[in-house]
Amino acid sequence: MDKELEMFYQLYMRRKSIRRFLKKDVEEDKLKRLLNILRRAQSAANCQPWHFIVVRGEDKERLNPVFTTKGFRDAPLCIVACAEPRKAWVRKADGRNYAWVDVSIAVTEMIGAATAEGLGTCWVAAIEPAKVKEILGIPDYIDVVAIIVIGYPVRELKVEEKDRKPLEEIIHWGRW
Ligand SMILES: Cc1cc2nc3c(=O)[nH]c(=O)nc-3n(C[C@H](O)[C@H](O)[C@H](O)COP(=O)(O)O)c2cc1C
Repeated sequence: MDKELEMFYQLYMRRKSIRRFLKKDVEEDKLKRLLNILRRAQSAANCQPWHFIVVRGEDKERLNPVFTTKGFRDAPLCIVACAEPRKAWVRKADGRNYAWVDVSIAVTEMIGAATAEGLGTCWVAAIEPAKVKEILGIPDYIDVVAIIVIGYPVRELKVEEKDRKPLEEIIHWGRW
C-alpha cells in the first residue's frame, strides 16, 4: 500500500475515546485547523444547520459540573456541538429532519483531524442538555447534540484491536 494511504487508514485505527487528559492546552493553530474542518463539512442540501461553542479556560470550569466522568474535567477544551433543526433539510418522503446527522458528520470529521494532530477526543452524549443550555446561554430552538472533549491524552494513541461486531454480522451484500 502507498505510504500516504497507509497513514490515512492508520489514523482511523488510532482513534479511540479518551477519558484521561493531560492538563496541557491545545495550541491555537491546531484549534483553528479543527474549526475549519467543522466549517467545511458536508451537510444535506448544504444547509449547515449547526453551531459549535468553543469552551475553555474559566468557561470550561463553569461547564465541568455537567460531566460525570472525572477525567473530562481535566481536558482543556471542549466543543459543544449544536443543531438548529429549523435550518436543516427535511426528507419529504418521511419528514425526517437531518440536523443531527449533519452535526454528527461535521464532528466526526473534526475528530479525525484531531487524531491526526495527536489529540485525544471523547464524544459525550450523556449530559443534561438543559443544564448545558443554562450554563452556556444556548437558545431554546437549538439542540445540544454532544460535547466533544478534546486534549492531549495521558497515553499516546496507538493502533489497537477493537471490540466490534464481525463484518459478516453488519454488512449485507446486495440485499438484507
Ligand atoms: C454518539 C456517541 C455518544 C457517546 N457518548 C458517550 C458518553 O456520554 N460518555 C462516554 O464516556 N463515551 C461516550 N461515547 C464513546 C463511546 O462509548 C465509544 O465510542 C465506544 O465505546 C467505542 O469505543 P472507541 O471510541 O474507543 O472506539 C459516545 C460515542 C458516540 C459515538
